[in-house]
Amino acid sequence: MLREKTYILGIESSCDDTAAAVLCDGKILSNVIANQSIHQAYGGVVPELASRAHQQNIVPVVHQALKQAGVSKDQLAAVAFTRGPGLMGSLLVGTSFAKSMAMGLQIPLIEVNHMQAHILAHFIQKEGYKQPHFPFLAMTISGGHTQIVEVKDYFDMRVIGETIDDAVGEAFDKSGKLLGLGYPAGPEIDKRAALGNPKAFHFTKPKVKGLDFSFSGLKTAILYFIQKNTATNPDFIKENLNDICASIQYTIIGILMDKLKKAVQETKINRIAIGGGVSANSGIRQALKQAEHQLGWETFVPAFEFTTDNAAMIAIVGYLKFLNNDFTSQGTTATARLKL
Ligand code: KG4
Ligand code: ZN
Repeated sequence: MLREKTYILGIESSCDDTAAAVLCDGKILSNVIANQSIHQAYGGVVPELASRAHQQNIVPVVHQALKQAGVSKDQLAAVAFTRGPGLMGSLLVGTSFAKSMAMGLQIPLIEVNHMQAHILAHFIQKEGYKQPHFPFLAMTISGGHTQIVEVKDYFDMRVIGETIDDAVGEAFDKSGKLLGLGYPAGPEIDKRAALGNPKAFHFTKPKVKGLDFSFSGLKTAILYFIQKNTATNPDFIKENLNDICASIQYTIIGILMDKLKKAVQETKINRIAIGGGVSANSGIRQALKQAEHQLGWETFVPAFEFTTDNAAMIAIVGYLKFLNNDFTSQGTTATARLKL
């Protein structure tokens, strides 16, 4: 049967956001996200609470996505869902829901790798945003991941560097916690960094081989730095907060850019796309702009709504797989540690 338009429903539930989106031939019609504010009280995501909140949110979120798109469920060509990686209890909710919906509607089911989706989010059609040509390097930076990926084609990609401990978003969030900031601290550190001096305090960058990253040492260095300074001046943090934030951000962005430069050197690919929550950071955006001018790189930063976890990126991968007839059987299960 020939369809005039291909409508794909995307469902994302890998961490603490319940999201659903409807896409029509590569264009987003709706992109709905229910954030779980409950975790703020705990300073981090509590898996059991996340899973329960997904169960409450999934039906209204999917309903809302279809309603906003003006699409009825009978018009859907397929249901795409995040199979992994992520928190098992969270993934199970989206996976079970997607499986039942596809079975009920008798349409194809399409599994999506969350990390691949962060990268392929660049192919969502949006005015004012260009799409990268192959090959390109993708740096995925969020609260759960830090990777550099060589992307040769939509489904031909290879991880060439990744964190050996904390993710870069965790470096922001854990540093923020030490400074008494709320969770997640990344956006606030970013805001304060704009008002501070990035060279006020020096933090040593970790030495990690190849293209891999490490952020746990930085967190410890910041802890000792704060302990030392507050011992002599209890108001040290309050008096220097903007400068501390600026210095932390400067160090983190330096670590990311050093590895990116090395990756460009090694692969000879200077087309760079970033994704994940930390790509909202103004420091990394500025550093990439600078690299465009000074190093001749071509850089791609997604629209803000596609940087953090969302279902539009799941739907675009669903669409690309749909075109390849790459479907998933009902026997599939969620997988917490899914590789690229
Ligand atoms: O992609 P995301 O929404 O969820 C994960 O998959 O983790 O990323 C969330 C992470 C958090 O660690 C948050 O602090 C960080 O992204 N983040 C930022 C900024 N906005 C969000 N970090 C630095 N600067 C920002 N502007
Ligand atoms: Zn993510």
